[in-house]
Amino acid sequence: MKYFFVSCPIHFENELIKEIEGFWHLMMDLDGLPTREALPEFEIDKGGVLFKCSLHLGLQINLFSHIANRVLLRHIDFKARYFDQFEKEFKKIDFSKIFNFKMDKKITIEIESSKSRLFHEKNLTETMTKILTEKKIQLVSDSENRIFIRLFNDIVTVSIDTTGEHLHFRGYRKHQGAAPIRENLAYLTLQIAGLTTANQKTILDPFCGSGTLLFESVLNGIPQLNRPFPFFNLQITPALFKSPTWIKNYKWLKPTQHKLLGLEKDLETLNKAVLNQKIFSDLYFTPNLTFKHIDSSKCELQTLDLSAADPLWIVTNPPYGERLSSEEIPAILKRFESLEMLRGMIVLHPTDWKFQFQRLKVSQSIPFSNQGLKLSLSIFKPT
Ligand SMILES: C[S@@+](CC[C@H](N)C(=O)[O-])C[C@H]1O[C@@H](n2cnc3c(N)ncnc32)[C@H](O)[C@@H]1O
Repeated sequence: MKYFFVSCPIHFENELIKEIEGFWHLMMDLDGLPTREALPEFEIDKGGVLFKCSLHLGLQINLFSHIANRVLLRHIDFKARYFDQFEKEFKKIDFSKIFNFKMDKKITIEIESSKSRLFHEKNLTETMTKILTEKKIQLVSDSENRIFIRLFNDIVTVSIDTTGEHLHFRGYRKHQGAAPIRENLAYLTLQIAGLTTANQKTILDPFCGSGTLLFESVLNGIPQLNRPFPFFNLQITPALFKSPTWIKNYKWLKPTQHKLLGLEKDLETLNKAVLNQKIFSDLYFTPNLTFKHIDSSKCELQTLDLSAADPLWIVTNPPYGERLSSEEIPAILKRFESLEMLRGMIVLHPTDWKFQFQRLKVSQSIPFSNQGLKLSLSIFKPT
């Protein structure tokens, strides 16, 4: 069993736990079958969760979590109030047992210290550089072999980065319009709204931009199998992940086929969304998704080809920077309220926007931060 720390957007640690609990039994054991290991006990730490589980499951969080930022594997912790204590313990770490050094022996170290006597990061880096040089390892700024060192209350925790590039990079959004929402925040929005379930529905984004909310709405339980995570190269990684055919084992995974519709008035942005759709299909599966070049303020709602049978959800991250948008956008969204099959509307918006729907009422509004902007995530439902 190993300790893992999985980081996520701050204040959403409980949503991350909920997500992990949801996909836990979709992960694979070393015999290629869905895991039989019981759910771990989660401990919340600001900006992430800590838990203990088998190595092969902790590593798979990288593939399955759409909310997490990064998965760190705890290697060792020790107490150090003085430099000589730090030096003595750091020297003991055998990096060649962790990393599969190829041609060059290089590592990158991220260090962070708080509430500790040893807080001077420059001095700590000098000490580490000296020790690494003795071990013939080069300290560089951009190696795939990455260690996170955290000092807190004089306890030094050394963790191995298993993720590499931040997990919100899914690979499908090669083309982006103005102000796209981060992929993991889009997934978080959908999970909070209860839309990451398998029940068949139509999801409409009337301001879809590059399509992030729509793509994320069908990723529940679908792992990211198309990217070279650093954990594949760790010395301790189970042989399962090194076999060329291991991903074929996941036979129990089935994509959810919601009907997705994105409206976008800017043709250039719409074309980017269509290009992303092609990449998404190559990397994951072909979604039931249509992008339309339409101005949401003017379109005839009957022409949108929405089936009366499917429950409809509107999910959107409209433009908020433009002048007048605080009144214009709520007015545009109000037009969609007349759609009979509408079950709810989820809108990410500046906190001072006012919505005056007739049939819909706010059922939840929570603070949400997107690229440093303070927003509200409001969920409106029919009364
Ligand atoms: C904040 S962006 C959406 C970003 C999107 N969630 C993404 O991740 O790429 C808002 C989008 O709404 C589009 N837009 C603005 N007014 C519109 C309208 N009346 N009808 C349709 N699209 C509109 C803009 O061109 C822009 O691409």
